[in-house]
Amino acid sequence: MVATIITHVAAMSSRAANPPVTPPLWRQGRITSGYWALATLSCSPNYRAKPVTDLQRHLRERLLDAIAELELPAADIAGMIRLDPPKNRDHGDVAFGAFQVAKLAKQPPPKLAADLAGKIEADDIIESAVATGPFVNFKFRRAAMAREVLTAIQTDRAPYGKADATDQVVCIDFSSPNIAKPFHIGHMRSTVLGNALCRIHRHLGAKVHGINHLGDWGMPFAKMMTAYMRFGDEAELHKSPMRYMFELYKRYGKEAEANPELDREAADHFKALESGEDNDERRMWQLLRDESLEAFQGPYSRLGVTFDHITGESFFEDKMAAAMKRVERAGVLEESDGADVVWLKDQGIKQPCLLRKSDGTTLYHTRDLAAAFYREDTFHPTRILYIVGGEQKLHFAQLKGVLIKMKEPIAEAVEHVPFGLVLSKGPDGKWEKFASRSGNAVFLDEILDEAVAKVRTVIAEKNPDLEDPDAVAEHVGVSAIVFNDLKNGRIKDVKFDWDAMLTFEGETGPYVQYACARLSSILRKVDMPVPAVDSIDFELLADADRVLLTMMDFAAAVKRAADQSEPSVVTSFTIALAGEIHSYLADHYVVSAEPSVRDARLVLVDAARRLLTTGLDLLGIQAPERM
Ligand code: ARG
Repeated sequence: MVATIITHVAAMSSRAANPPVTPPLWRQGRITSGYWALATLSCSPNYRAKPVTDLQRHLRERLLDAIAELELPAADIAGMIRLDPPKNRDHGDVAFGAFQVAKLAKQPPPKLAADLAGKIEADDIIESAVATGPFVNFKFRRAAMAREVLTAIQTDRAPYGKADATDQVVCIDFSSPNIAKPFHIGHMRSTVLGNALCRIHRHLGAKVHGINHLGDWGMPFAKMMTAYMRFGDEAELHKSPMRYMFELYKRYGKEAEANPELDREAADHFKALESGEDNDERRMWQLLRDESLEAFQGPYSRLGVTFDHITGESFFEDKMAAAMKRVERAGVLEESDGADVVWLKDQGIKQPCLLRKSDGTTLYHTRDLAAAFYREDTFHPTRILYIVGGEQKLHFAQLKGVLIKMKEPIAEAVEHVPFGLVLSKGPDGKWEKFASRSGNAVFLDEILDEAVAKVRTVIAEKNPDLEDPDAVAEHVGVSAIVFNDLKNGRIKDVKFDWDAMLTFEGETGPYVQYACARLSSILRKVDMPVPAVDSIDFELLADADRVLLTMMDFAAAVKRAADQSEPSVVTSFTIALAGEIHSYLADHYVVSAEPSVRDARLVLVDAARRLLTTGLDLLGIQAPERM
């Protein structure tokens, strides 16, 4: 009983409602050459690869044996073995390009490829090794492939299940809104991207510290405080803190234009706050911070986002003096017009990094520097990822620049992970920077509410009997937004197009969620436990090769997502697997098949459901049992 709201939501789009067959990754050109190699041989500094699956390890060993017979001069031959998907997948499952080895052997690559192919005979894992031009194309035996992949998935073994702990420690600084300014749509992107990256690194066995570096200090905050002290009303604040603070923010902007006194007042308030005394400023800071944090909690919990540390800028209040000393001791601090700066011209950065203003107060940079030292000393991270929009490129270049100039080892770990804008359709149909109805503020809860309401309306109209419709609407609506955000390369702008993100046909969250629900429905229908993987006849899954090959792409996808801070690779993987399993099920019955066939297919269906669930989970999305 997949009592679907699928068709109903799909009805919102103009196209037909059948789930599409998405071409596999290699057909979509999404996997650039070397993609597979990442799974097996990549020398990524972060997740130094060992062969991921036994199949690939076996292939590699057979290749090395064959090459050893050639008695070539000593060289790093293992490093020359890259396994890629062949240009034409009909030629095989994996291709080995013989170029480097041929060079070493002083032979034309096609001749060497033919030689090697001749030496590698079929065995119980390799079905064939055939030379095509300079490549050796390998085909796995279908039963061996099915056994390997399905066993690993059913037993939750890495790379499909979570890896054992590694020595990687990854700090991920994400979301980090300014509590004295509206929650920017960019913060939503940071929240969603950062959450996915935390999950992806954890899956790979890293120790992850998800950090919310809340903007709760400095001049922006002092301005809010000034506005509140001048025109604020506590009852109004409690009613709707984010919206009220946005009103204050706008009012401050307007009044400060006419009256420069306000900015001076704000600077004084900040000085008073930084004095560390128990004063009005301190009490005001506490109030506004508490209100904001509580207000953020709503959207955070709807998105399923949690943090290991909420250490905002204020957390570094008492750590900045020591940080400044450390910079001074390194001999890189200079005075400029009464302010303290670090010049970075030798690194090609024209603007100096300003660390203390002439009035003695600190800056955003000072706190980021103190935070970098703190993270270094407390967590000993191998990577620190800052998931922050591209407009802060200079800020992070300067931060890293100062650390490099200080010869701090942590400099190498610092990585700014920028991302593109969010665009919405303007009244003339053109894509422009996202702006919500409330002016230029973006209230995350409003966006989530809108998505959920759209799904909910459709359910009410088309499927009034659906069990727990509010929960389904919440789930599908919120996930659609997250998926849409993570769908394309992060540096690309995200188009916020309601119809496109809620349809079940395209590359959407609902499409992949529907695939999960469909698989769950089959498992419910057979009304028996999923057979143990070692009880089935793998030969019966010979024609599921495209599903299995796609499953095998998972390891490389997750690794690449982590190495390049690119969750979209995992998103693409889920779309591809959903497409493959849909097309397999189009002409393979499960429930009504004869028992041995049914059992084998059930194991496949269960594995696809597990892997799609894991893929979605890495993106921060839950897979529903029913839709
Ligand atoms: N609060 C900043 C903003 O909204 C983002 C902070 C990013 N993290 C950092 N460590 N600087 O622009």
